[in-house]
Amino acid sequence: MCGIVGYIGNKQAVNVICDGLEKLEYRGYDSAGVAVVNGDSKVNWAKKQGRLSGLEAVLEQSPIEGTVGIGHTRWATHGAPSDINSHPHLNMSETIAVVHNGIIENYMEIRERLTAEGYVFKSETDTEVAVHLIDKYYEGDLLQAVYKAVAEFRGAYALGVVSSNHPGELVAVRKESPLIVGVGEGEYFIASDVPAILKYTRNVYYLENDEVVYVKDGKIQILDAEQNVVDKELKVVEWDIEAASKGGYDHFMMKEIYDQPQAIRDTLLRRLDENRMIRLDDIKLTKEDLDGIQKMYIVACGTAYHAGLVGKYAIEKLAKVPVEVDIASEFRYSDPFIDEHTLLIVVSQSGETADTLAAMKLAKSKGARVLAITNVVGSSVAREAHDVFYTWAGPEVAVASTKAYTAQMIAFYMIALDFAFKKGTITLERYHELVNNIEALAPLVEEILADKAQIEKMAEDMKDAQNAFYLGRGVDFTTAREAALKLKEISYIYTEAFAAGELKHGPIALIDQGTPVLSIVTQDALQEKMISNIKEVKARGAFVIAIAKKGDTEIAKVADDLFYIPEAEDLLMPVLAVIPTQLISYYVSIARGNDVDKPRNLAKSVTVE
Ligand code: M6R
Repeated sequence: MCGIVGYIGNKQAVNVICDGLEKLEYRGYDSAGVAVVNGDSKVNWAKKQGRLSGLEAVLEQSPIEGTVGIGHTRWATHGAPSDINSHPHLNMSETIAVVHNGIIENYMEIRERLTAEGYVFKSETDTEVAVHLIDKYYEGDLLQAVYKAVAEFRGAYALGVVSSNHPGELVAVRKESPLIVGVGEGEYFIASDVPAILKYTRNVYYLENDEVVYVKDGKIQILDAEQNVVDKELKVVEWDIEAASKGGYDHFMMKEIYDQPQAIRDTLLRRLDENRMIRLDDIKLTKEDLDGIQKMYIVACGTAYHAGLVGKYAIEKLAKVPVEVDIASEFRYSDPFIDEHTLLIVVSQSGETADTLAAMKLAKSKGARVLAITNVVGSSVAREAHDVFYTWAGPEVAVASTKAYTAQMIAFYMIALDFAFKKGTITLERYHELVNNIEALAPLVEEILADKAQIEKMAEDMKDAQNAFYLGRGVDFTTAREAALKLKEISYIYTEAFAAGELKHGPIALIDQGTPVLSIVTQDALQEKMISNIKEVKARGAFVIAIAKKGDTEIAKVADDLFYIPEAEDLLMPVLAVIPTQLISYYVSIARGNDVDKPRNLAKSVTVE
């Protein structure tokens, strides 16, 4: 994620930038920094690990004056949170400064090339290549140097650039990462998101991919990749500041539900090389390592545990290795069988969950290799693990986890594919087919989200329920468990998930007239069995809401209400099936007047046992 802000005008840049960064802290708060040009021979800068308040304390001690500058709040992807890895990054002579949001995928090859040419890198970030490359191409024209540099980048980036050689100029570029331009009276702003500038102006240009902003001597130009001037419409923002920081949504949870297509794309696409092979840079497990592993565990808590259940399904199906999944708080006290032939995969959005951390420490002490799937770079889980897979879902603010879950499932599909390919348990053709099918999930999620009004109506029928049940079979049972957790945690309705085949062994006694039973039916081989189970609960008075694949006309005959989701291959259906259940939980919670983002009794990160 990360947030960038830039200013050029008559005000003190540091004040405007800090105001903006404060509004962007939801995008990351691992560190913050500013760079200002004011006629001095070098760029003036300050940066500090931690929240913006840390940077502000530094700036209070040593103020930086000037009316042109850029700033950044970081959510680490490459390199742990630290002062050195903080933005802005500077060239060796400190005459050029860059802030960046996104990932420059080919930064390693550029870094090696520049190092061979004598450039000295200070940080572990991908961003630092940008400033050195601009420096390399700089021949007195900042804009041209930026154009030449970005032509070499692969990936996603929004960049802000200033130079002490050009105190009246500000350059910014957008590709895949968001960037807007604010227009005030004789002043211009750049920012990753609208809230950063709303205190100063509501007039905004929304940039498209490959567009470049060039402000010089009080005049702005927006240029395309070929340096043609783009005639853009200036829009007026109607949102207030609070709504804007949630991207215009009423709650972070809804924003994060809508972030999911991007989270899927970011987690997958940025790890595909030019031959569409998955590159897991922070996982060093070789074929020999994998052949030596006799036991695999997946251990996590809550939603992350449910992602682990999907992970087991994917790894067993593709890599043909048996996997056990356990809840971290149970695993650590169960005297698990662990030795140096064990691989423990831990999953944690925050990377700080106490039980998950304790489980991995236990496994390490017994000689196991530990692979962590986490969303937070430099988190405790990431630091403790031998191998790491970062889900690039961006910061998750709502307590109810949504986008982290989908990104964790994508991570497992990719790890399963990587293991399977290394172990030779799938063909190259099937490998590519699956990569394509995973990529195709993002637009399918968008399709589901476009139908949210139907779900809002369904939720209306459920809002007064005393209890509710989710049913599923196979991997749909996993989706049912995740769906039940989500509904109970934000609606406070007593909700349980059952393996549909288990109903007759007890749970069916709970079904009464009107009890909502949400049935997930996406697995072809289990569809007939699910229809029988639906008939059984209906016969006892249940109100059945089904979530099924488009075109399943048999389900339509038995369900009281039905939400169709698009079809993907069965293995990947959990990613699609969970989306309507997240929306149901959201709308039921709203209808009951609950605080969706901060449900009672819960915290985002559970750092106690
Ligand atoms: O940060 P973690 O992924 O380790 O957190 C695990 C659980 O606490 C978390 O998934 C929790 O269950 C969520 N509130 C579910 O929405």
